[in-house]
Amino acid sequence: MGNGIAHTFAQHGFGVSLVDINTEALNKAIQTITNNLDRQLKKGLIDDQVKATTLSRIKTFTDLQQGAAHADLVIEAATENREIKLKLFKQLSDIGSDQVILASNTSSISITQIAAVTKNPGNVIGMHFMNPVPVMKLVEVIRGYATTDAVTNTIMELAKTLDKDPVEVNDYPGFVANRILMPMINEAIYTLYEGVAGVAEIDTVMKLGMAHPMGPLQLADFIGLDVCVAILKVLYDGFGNQKYAPCPLLVNMVTAGHSGVKTGSGFYKYTPGSKELIVADKFVSR
Ligand SMILES: NC(=O)c1ccc[n+]([C@@H]2O[C@H](COP(=O)([O-])OP(=O)(O)OC[C@H]3O[C@@H](n4cnc5c(N)ncnc54)[C@H](O)[C@@H]3O)[C@@H](O)[C@H]2O)c1
Repeated sequence: MGNGIAHTFAQHGFGVSLVDINTEALNKAIQTITNNLDRQLKKGLIDDQVKATTLSRIKTFTDLQQGAAHADLVIEAATENREIKLKLFKQLSDIGSDQVILASNTSSISITQIAAVTKNPGNVIGMHFMNPVPVMKLVEVIRGYATTDAVTNTIMELAKTLDKDPVEVNDYPGFVANRILMPMINEAIYTLYEGVAGVAEIDTVMKLGMAHPMGPLQLADFIGLDVCVAILKVLYDGFGNQKYAPCPLLVNMVTAGHSGVKTGSGFYKYTPGSKELIVADKFVSR
């Protein structure tokens, strides 16, 4: 997600410092941005000049202090882990001026809780981009309990300058996107678990019947089944309602290391370079 956010800002004229603790991740990010710019070039969406200037606006850093020292806005897109994010925001709060806006791309962690570890909670906001960032129009802008009107307005206007369509929502578990999406994915997995239908059948019903571009099981593989479990747990803990408990089949798949595209298998099997959708072979029904 970090490379997509950096790509989008740089393409729209902003200087970007891309920070990661892992040098390999930074090299991979620049490679991914280059590949994605090449794709835009091939489609005639940009020219060589835009590709070159976009890349020239992105600098990489492994040191947070160096990368964030002169920023007007920091967008955190680190691993979806509460401890990592709280530690990062505590550090960010000590870097730069009191005016810096600190945003998180978190899919589910409370913005209010993140803001509470900083010196200026009013300047903390959620800026939830969708994957792939350069393509998807939505930015879910999440107001924490303390987020000021001024900061919210700045981020809403900024998202528009990136050619995105921002939507303002309040900070409750799952915000809007994942509060609605994750129960649907979980229900699709329950439908499989209870033997109502197979993987391809469930996805076909939702694609052809509801005009979804991708079935919920394939979408879960793309998001990452481990991420789905983590978000469902946030909903379950936040609302205390059994309806959000992750399906046992989903939990088993993650425990067995079948977390979707990133692990090579989930509800489907993934071979690098192949676009064919092959259903993975083993699903244990109730
Ligand atoms: N993947 C998606 O489809 C998606 C969609 C919307 C939002 N998000 C959110 O975006 C964030 C990132 O997701 P992702 O899928 O890109 O994760 P990822 O695990 O692929 O990448 C996270 C990166 O953060 C780096 N990192 C970890 N700790 C760090 C630290 N302390 N300082 C700097 N870098 C650190 C890691 O090295 C890694 O390169 C998460 O909060 C996730 O919930 C993801």
